[in-house]
Amino acid sequence: MTDRILVCVAWPYANSPLHLGHITGSILPPDIFARYQRLQGKEVLMVSGSDTHGTPISVRAEQDGVPPEEIIARFHQSILDSLQGLGISFDLYTHTNTKNHYAVTQDMFLRLYEKGYIFAQRMQLLYCETCQRFLADRYVEGICPHCHAVGARGDQCDSCGRSIEAIELISPACRWCGGKPVVRETEHLFLDLPAFAEPLQKWLRDKGFWRPNVINFARNLLDAGLQPRPITRDLDWGIPVPVAGFEDKVIYVWFDAVIGYLSATIEWAQITGDEERWRDWWQSPSCKAYYFQGKDNIWFHAIIWPSMLMGYGDLNLPYDIPANEFLNLEGRKFSSSRNWAIWMPDYLARYAPDPLRYVLTATMPETNDSDFTWREFVRRNNDELVATYGNLVHRVLTFAYRNFDKQVPKPGRLSADDTRILDIVANAFVPVGREIANCHFRAALGEAMNVAQEVNRYLDTAAPWKVLKKDPAAAATMIYVALRVIDSLKILFYPFLPFSSEALHEMLGYDGSIAGRQYQQNIAEGDKIHRVLRYDGSKTVGTWGPSHLPVGQKLRTPKPLFLKLEESVVEEEVARLEQATLKK
Ligand code: MF3
Ligand code: ZN
Repeated sequence: MTDRILVCVAWPYANSPLHLGHITGSILPPDIFARYQRLQGKEVLMVSGSDTHGTPISVRAEQDGVPPEEIIARFHQSILDSLQGLGISFDLYTHTNTKNHYAVTQDMFLRLYEKGYIFAQRMQLLYCETCQRFLADRYVEGICPHCHAVGARGDQCDSCGRSIEAIELISPACRWCGGKPVVRETEHLFLDLPAFAEPLQKWLRDKGFWRPNVINFARNLLDAGLQPRPITRDLDWGIPVPVAGFEDKVIYVWFDAVIGYLSATIEWAQITGDEERWRDWWQSPSCKAYYFQGKDNIWFHAIIWPSMLMGYGDLNLPYDIPANEFLNLEGRKFSSSRNWAIWMPDYLARYAPDPLRYVLTATMPETNDSDFTWREFVRRNNDELVATYGNLVHRVLTFAYRNFDKQVPKPGRLSADDTRILDIVANAFVPVGREIANCHFRAALGEAMNVAQEVNRYLDTAAPWKVLKKDPAAAATMIYVALRVIDSLKILFYPFLPFSSEALHEMLGYDGSIAGRQYQQNIAEGDKIHRVLRYDGSKTVGTWGPSHLPVGQKLRTPKPLFLKLEESVVEEEVARLEQATLKK
């Protein structure tokens, strides 16, 4: 039986376009991982979707004076386009405002309620007497009781990532009227987290291979002691609570969003026409589930979601939670509200996807926060991507195309240098693959680039262009070796740079793609339609390992894989950022 890998990606809110922070934090890493695993022959299912509930959506809708559905439609489509533009190979990217998701969520809620893991409890909430309403989540802001950052919200502090009880907020203020709310007693449904404290401890025992920041965060939470968490809200927007007496409340957005991983798998199974197939990913003990996200989401994936899964029963727990630290932008924290961000639609309108994928991977905040700067973007594009990899490919392809009749020449006897470089490239697949499998994407890319460096050295020493006149047969052998080597580099770089690898694949004369294709599709549910992003990997021809370019294969016209960027891009882009943030 082939190994199965479920790749779960944090669900971005459908209240803004995607920005660089989303991409580095949770979206690009799983794509590298999934593309690699597919080439390894693993069965991969990568799912996510837009998070369409909660106050992030309703606040935005109120600001714009439109219904929430309109906000969702606008940004979900924008997100789909960006994901496709960046080549994020989701088997299914859907959203949470579907009949299927409602049904799966309410089923899980009810089952947990019936088993006694969800119970009613009186609690103190903040209430605004002027606005006459309870202030849920983002409708109240104040100072974080843990880290004392300003702008902490009723459920969570973005600065320290901790989850908050609204009444703990220091100097809380109502989001509508700015007034000071009062504390009032009311009743809500709670998830009994303490019931899972022991099973969670046990489950985490053999998770020493997790990233230290993730496992420490999770263990600290457990050591500090778990409290029951309210998982219903007094809001108009959300999934109705399926319990008598609570029909006028909705389910807390985080509770429904994490269920999205399961409901999206079920939706995917339905689309493929085999409704029961979701079980292979959630009930088979040989399937490993990876959850990719930013560090602010660890609590929900390492504590709450596993508790829900344990309570429900018969569903696989996470295998790994490779959460990233934060990416800053030009030395400052990303901020949507201050518009200090690089938005994906803007980026993709001006630049190609692979350079961004490259730079974000090379600076990925895997163990520490890191910084994106335009200067670094231009430098890495020009000095690394273009100089080390792009030029190498272009030199070899144009030389072969011009001097060897537009096809792969027949080699003579290979020299020691020839064999050596072929071996270096062939042997690189193991360590690069191991790093990717361990979610060390930065290191993996670094290793692959080292190999490209070696190939440059080989070519500079061999210098077929010098030998060509005197000894065309020797030049043919060298260029044959060089072509074979770049044919393999195309696979080695494929998880990181899929667009360039596909382009190279084509120029080397192959038909069809290395692996799969993305497309958008409309899905009908009764009289409602929603749009999803899908990936068809059924025609995958590549495998993880050196490729074997056939002698005599016709080449296609060589074009540069990457473009050199003008230095002026740095100033232009930084100025653009400054202007955008000033306008806010
Ligand atoms: N929408 C949330 C955010 O952007 C993430 C939800 S991840 C999920 O912070 F697991 F809950 F789906
Ligand atoms: Zn108010």
